[in-house]
Amino acid sequence: MLKTFSTILVLLVAPAVGYAQPMVNHFDAAAKVFRLDGGGVSYLFGVNARGELEQLYWGGRLGATDKFPQAVPMREWASFDSSYTNTPQEYAGWGAGLFNEPALKVSFADGNRDLVLHYESYAEAANGFDVVLKDIARPIFVTLHYAIDAESGILARSATIENRGSEAVTVEQAAAAAWALPAGRYTLNYLTGRWAGEWTLNQETVRAGARVIESRRGSTGHQANPWFALQAGEAEEEHGEVWFGALGWSGSWRITVEQDQLDAVRVTGGFNPFDFGYVLHAGEKLETPVFYGGYAKNGLDGASRLLHRYELEHILPRTEAKAGQAPAASRTALTPRPRPVIYNSWEATEFNVTEAGQMALAEKAAALGIDRFVMDDGWFGQRKDDHAGLGDWYVNQEKFPHGLKPLIDKVHALGMDFGLWVEPEMVNPDSDLYRKHPDWVLHFPGRPESEQRNQLVLNLARPEVREYVLGFLDKLLTENDIAFLKWDYNRNWSEPGWDQLPAAEQKRVYVEFTRNLYAILAELRKRHPQVEIESCSGGGGRVDLGILRYVDEVWPSDNTDPFDRLTIQDGFTYAYTPQVMMAWVTDSPHWLNKRTTSLSYRILSSMQGSLGIGANIANWTPDEAATAKRLIAAYHQVQATIVQGELYRLISPRNGSEFSATETVRPDKSQAVVFAFIHSTQEGRGFPTLKLKGLDPAAEYALSAIEGKAREGSPAVASGAWWMNHGLEMEEGFRGDFQAAAFRLDRK
Ligand code: GLA
Repeated sequence: MLKTFSTILVLLVAPAVGYAQPMVNHFDAAAKVFRLDGGGVSYLFGVNARGELEQLYWGGRLGATDKFPQAVPMREWASFDSSYTNTPQEYAGWGAGLFNEPALKVSFADGNRDLVLHYESYAEAANGFDVVLKDIARPIFVTLHYAIDAESGILARSATIENRGSEAVTVEQAAAAAWALPAGRYTLNYLTGRWAGEWTLNQETVRAGARVIESRRGSTGHQANPWFALQAGEAEEEHGEVWFGALGWSGSWRITVEQDQLDAVRVTGGFNPFDFGYVLHAGEKLETPVFYGGYAKNGLDGASRLLHRYELEHILPRTEAKAGQAPAASRTALTPRPRPVIYNSWEATEFNVTEAGQMALAEKAAALGIDRFVMDDGWFGQRKDDHAGLGDWYVNQEKFPHGLKPLIDKVHALGMDFGLWVEPEMVNPDSDLYRKHPDWVLHFPGRPESEQRNQLVLNLARPEVREYVLGFLDKLLTENDIAFLKWDYNRNWSEPGWDQLPAAEQKRVYVEFTRNLYAILAELRKRHPQVEIESCSGGGGRVDLGILRYVDEVWPSDNTDPFDRLTIQDGFTYAYTPQVMMAWVTDSPHWLNKRTTSLSYRILSSMQGSLGIGANIANWTPDEAATAKRLIAAYHQVQATIVQGELYRLISPRNGSEFSATETVRPDKSQAVVFAFIHSTQEGRGFPTLKLKGLDPAAEYALSAIEGKAREGSPAVASGAWWMNHGLEMEEGFRGDFQAAAFRLDRK
């Protein structure tokens, strides 16, 4: 239903949990102001006198009767900076002298590149509005989609760009959305890294000019993650206003945070405009990814708690547990089921997987209480190392003479389900697939094909490649009882040519590759609804809210050093829920840092997320196996709290901190789990008292140790008020290097 300047009132029923106030989205026809309310947040924008869509307010929820007059464009600042540039437009076209980041830039067939978008009409949409803009002269239409979550107040914004003219138009730059904040002093938080060193939290004062965080790699990338948080003033965990956002796109992306000459801040994000060019023929449309944005009053911790809940309830897929599949009981209606505790063979056997070797590991794994056995790289084609085999997805006859069935049957007989590693988008030049279809890879004819890890990237944008990948995966899942795929992606793009298309259209690859990836994942899930999938890209190279719509978990990093993991996991949770954060316990000394740590320290570090074991358990002593078995059993009991609860970062592990600690509280406040880690005790300093958070002050909570001890004389039972005000004290002897303790508090 399209409307032009009439009044509508959209009343939506808030969900049963959480926020009591109903969500009211409203268009004030007289003032031409759109208002979205959800949770503790209001978002307002309106049509100004020139016809531009202008942001009016984004922040804490306003009174139901509060009204805004019609939007007034920002003033011109001398003749050098027009009002068009200074006005915080919701979606600015590049034209009319716009000097800051445009949301949309197009090039017309006749050479015209001026685009000025004015309000046209709006329609009601689920939880929000679709607002249509149009160029002042040419038939380029942009529909802005807005939806607000009634509980968290998180907005989902995206745009559909449509060419209703008769001639082709090239889209050179297309954002999903632009967010605006008024002039002020802000701290920008963003996540960067590299292979084996992902999820570094950067915190810096926003200054004049632009900070660009991006990937030009064809996929999300380890080097930066499409998430940001802007805090008013200094960065603080528990206090202060925070505006945050995350882009749902697993291809090349860009987020630009700029402070303009009047000190206002704008965040524009979407497809990376670098090497971009999407030709829209007459009647064609381009859909952008979704840019999610939220607001929290209570600091960075508050922001990540909102984002975690939103991911659990609105982003992640739900997979029904099979009868007998563990741990089925803890799945709630609103959240995906906690991850099975896995065993993964990679660090134990690398490419050297065999039927007998994997069966032996499976027996050991089952005895520890593992739920899922995952065989990693090495089982297919002529795969002996990373030089050959990718692309040839048949079972290697030498290693598995009877196919996968005997191993899978054995794993099932041991009470676990079975998972398998695949890397579907890649090919080794030494493979039957490449010999048969050398043109299937991304390449420019006549130019070298740059290999990384001896492999090339298949052009998934091509329909025949998409069908091949879907076909072999479907066959694998149909012929074998596989519960889980670890979907890997071990290099970035080079030479991104697509020579089947006319030269002007080849850059479509940046959009179609990722869309086909999503389409394959969606189709596989449809055909095999009980299969779960992990997104891995040499660790955390493909983690974003786009892929998380199709996968159940991710591999945050190939770095499994338990001490490094504390910081990696801390950074990860600013943007993503611990539910999806797989964390394996591996061998000591660790292969990367040569650090020696105790098994219980390693397990407690991994227990902060979704626990797995990736060590060579064939070599474990009976004592080590007993420790692992005990802690895996303890983890199963509190897992739902750890991975789906409200996370409080009590002491940060960043910047060489001597100590670190986290607490997670179940949403109904019935349980809390606390982790405490010592890096290296210095000068005999004891562990700080942990003042807990988020408990019910009036309820009584019983304290029990999962590992370690509380200080002698600590109460066994005390009120939430006691634990929050007096705090939890560690035993005197909790000192040393790489020490860990964990506690649970259960409401009586
Ligand atoms: C990537 C993954 C690892 C492992 C190897 C296998 O590096 O991140 O976990 O699966 O590939 O080749």
